[in-house]
Amino acid sequence: MPTRFYITTPIYYVNDVPHLGHAYTTVAADAVRRYHLVRGHESRMLTGTDEHGLKIERAAAEAGKTPQAFVDEMSGRFRDAWPVLSARPDDFIHTTEPRHVALTQELWRRVEANGGLYLGAYEDWYCVGCESFKTDKDLLPGNVCPMHQKPVEKVREETYFFRLEAAQQRLLALYRDRPDFIQPESRRNEVVSFVEGGLKDLSVSRTSFRWGVPVPGNPAHVMYVWFDALANYWTALGGPDDPRREFWPAKGRDTRAVHLVGKDILRFHAVYWPAFLLAAGFTEDDLPSQIFAHGFLTVDGQKMSKSLRNAVDPLRLARELGPDVLRYQLLRAIAFGQDGDFDHKALMANYRADLANTLGNLLQRTLGLTTKLTGGRPPRVATADLDHELLDGQVRALEAAAAVQWDRLEIHRAIESTWAIAALANQYVDHAAPWTAAKRGDQARVDVILATLLEALGRLSVMVSPVIPGKADEMRAQLGLPPLSTGVGRDLWPHEGSQERYRGEALGAAAPLFPTFDKDAEQALLEKLMPKPATPDPSPASTPASTPTSTSTSTSTTTPAPAEITYDQFTAVDLRVGVVMACERVPRKDKLLRLRVDLGEPEPRVIVAGLAQTFAPEALVGRRVVVVANLAPRDFGKGLVSHGMVLATGPSDALRLATIGDDAAPGSRLR
Ligand code: MSP
Repeated sequence: MPTRFYITTPIYYVNDVPHLGHAYTTVAADAVRRYHLVRGHESRMLTGTDEHGLKIERAAAEAGKTPQAFVDEMSGRFRDAWPVLSARPDDFIHTTEPRHVALTQELWRRVEANGGLYLGAYEDWYCVGCESFKTDKDLLPGNVCPMHQKPVEKVREETYFFRLEAAQQRLLALYRDRPDFIQPESRRNEVVSFVEGGLKDLSVSRTSFRWGVPVPGNPAHVMYVWFDALANYWTALGGPDDPRREFWPAKGRDTRAVHLVGKDILRFHAVYWPAFLLAAGFTEDDLPSQIFAHGFLTVDGQKMSKSLRNAVDPLRLARELGPDVLRYQLLRAIAFGQDGDFDHKALMANYRADLANTLGNLLQRTLGLTTKLTGGRPPRVATADLDHELLDGQVRALEAAAAVQWDRLEIHRAIESTWAIAALANQYVDHAAPWTAAKRGDQARVDVILATLLEALGRLSVMVSPVIPGKADEMRAQLGLPPLSTGVGRDLWPHEGSQERYRGEALGAAAPLFPTFDKDAEQALLEKLMPKPATPDPSPASTPASTPTSTSTSTSTTTPAPAEITYDQFTAVDLRVGVVMACERVPRKDKLLRLRVDLGEPEPRVIVAGLAQTFAPEALVGRRVVVVANLAPRDFGKGLVSHGMVLATGPSDALRLATIGDDAAPGSRLR
């Protein structure tokens, strides 16, 4: 059994706000870490934010902020979110912090010194007029830039390549020799076949933007954001003399280091990360113990989209229901490692069945019976005299199974085993029937039954604590037990012969652990919590008349929803993916920009939009936008005619564009 445990979450991109997917990984990591704490292991949890790269640089420009001001503001949202979910990481790393930058450069130097990098070039089309690279699909026939109507040039950008191809055999040997390195098994198999298919050297630096860690010795380059991001797991533990370094990599020690990641980013962690570390001179023994990929969540059966994300705010859920209820549902309802659904109705059903009726009810009954049958004084019964019908056999087996399941990251199973104990204890109350013993005047038997139940509840309070830490402490207070006090070497998990209760201590004040709702209250809560179908932005007609714009904007979230429309009415609106090829100010119109937008048509469209108070023209070139393509042309006079509308929201000086993934082809229809 390891005595030192290091667990990490991915570091989250700060161009988004914390959503249920981020909450899932973070809560899972926190629960696993709390399990290790109660086992008396020295444990450490790391999370943080990924703050470099083009995506962030652009998001900052769009928000009209410097990249540093933008990331500082956005990362605060992640940092502040986790305590609301009772997640308590030991460290929160920002990739723009000097401690990270310096050590990432150190890692780079080590890779370089070992011959893992070489300077090369990647090739693509370049339009000097636009000063930007173009792909084939951006160009007109004959490789002509649609904006400048001139042929583009083939240009090479200098880049450092990482020798990934050469790492293939060593990686395959690693996966073979350490079958646990990637889990679950199905994900491991995917990675193995990917690597067996051959690897290509990886471009790991850029010269065309600046928002990244400068490459040591060649500051014209910044590092590829994934090199920088993955390094965080190592940089966060400090230099070789830092005591935190004991957590990983620490040779010859009983140490386990686990990276929890979503399946979307497994390849980066299971292929690139070990390859970077090996190239930096670490050995196979130094690598993390495991990369565990969990599945993806849907919400009420639907893929999480940006619009839904806003509605399914984990912080709001935690505030309405308490963090423990959210944690329970996330960890119990979804098999860890597989995709799963976060269903609000199932949440309410599990609340009722598992939390209120099984665990809450067991506590309430036991405390109620103790008050009634022993005058509120917990009976003094020697451990040997407790009722082994409940405490031994199946319960012992479940306690041991839950520990193994936590160790294997089978979190949902560990919870299942724990709640099975609560269910057995409830059956025991019915079957042992202390009220009958009381009627017979058999106080000794009453005392044994109640002491047994109090003991079982004390042990359960330890076992549930990784998942519902707040409620575990409430349970203990009601049972008259001190709050859980963890410490290195102090294993609090129930074991053969261990005993939780002191004898005869006074009970605390009883209160329902999970208050029940009646049907109406439950319905009202569901209505409050469930995501509403996304309301479309107001039609152009509701755009303030004073805004001479071809941009659809909503200036306020309180704008009344427009009347319902039929599906046919919706499909009458031709929404298309556009790529902004050129953009310029309109003389003497300080709100307007004139855009030329590629909609997959032979010629780019001219669209005049009221974007100038938010965006500099050059910030829009290359952006993918959503365009109403069949809007009647609008004549602004002096030959200026707009042939479409770009969708956006917000006040005219802080607009946000409706966007679409970078791989959507210009002209694709949205429906
Ligand atoms: N910055 C990178 C990670 C770098 S780690 C060195 C990144 N960030 S992210 O903000 O996009 O967060 C990705 C992680 O969020 C996923 O791997 C997963 O942990 C979590 N999830 C995001 N959406 C999710 C779901 N719908 N369901 C479950 N988890 C999801 O990628």
